[in-house]
Amino acid sequence: MLTKNQIQTYQNNGYLIFEDLFQQEDLDKLQRAAINIVDEFDLNESKHIFTTQDHGKTRDDYFLDSADKIRCFFEEDAFDSYGQLNQSKSLSINKIGHALHLLNPVFQQFSHQPLLKTIANDLGLLQPQIRQSMYIFKQPHIGGVVNWHQDASYFFTTPQSVTTFWLAIEDATLQNGCLHVQPEGHKTPLREQFIREKDGTTILKKLDNTPYPNNSESIATPVKRGTLIVFNGLLPH
Ligand code: FE2
Repeated sequence: MLTKNQIQTYQNNGYLIFEDLFQQEDLDKLQRAAINIVDEFDLNESKHIFTTQDHGKTRDDYFLDSADKIRCFFEEDAFDSYGQLNQSKSLSINKIGHALHLLNPVFQQFSHQPLLKTIANDLGLLQPQIRQSMYIFKQPHIGGVVNWHQDASYFFTTPQSVTTFWLAIEDATLQNGCLHVQPEGHKTPLREQFIREKDGTTILKKLDNTPYPNNSESIATPVKRGTLIVFNGLLPH
């Protein structure tokens, strides 16, 4: 049960940090489950990279058809010009997505635990539903830039209802890539909308010209392993 102060902080800032919310054993289980998925992933099935840098009209079926599957996506610089991995497979994956919460028993159980439902309810989500889950790696030495964005761009609802539950599986530091957020940024408009066209291509449509925050308007949120950060879908991060 959240305190009034926590709820107010969430409403004011657009995000809320729950330090050390989960036990080490639970995190170990999630980590092991993710390692198993990557181990079992057949490199020949796909050499698909995940990038946020492509804003043109693109078509990416492996990505778009992954809503109800568990798929692995590689880092931008994972492969050399001959299509061979530059480093081991386990150090080349950018993320696993997007139905871990449905299809993997460990993630299914973790995602649907009553604690998370209580947090969602207390933050004003009357009928919380999990629509997507992903496990993001921050690999040493390689990895594409993730630009400022709002998660609501990718889950368009009216009114805006998207809420992200972000869990640190390892200590997240300034060095290894912790989350950066714009406090109160959820009070700014939705800037872009990800649209899937009839022909299967996608575009990022501009909705508003408000710039994303600069460094002086944003803060880093280094947190310890097991910390949960919940944030509004409009919060730039
Ligand atoms: Fe995001």
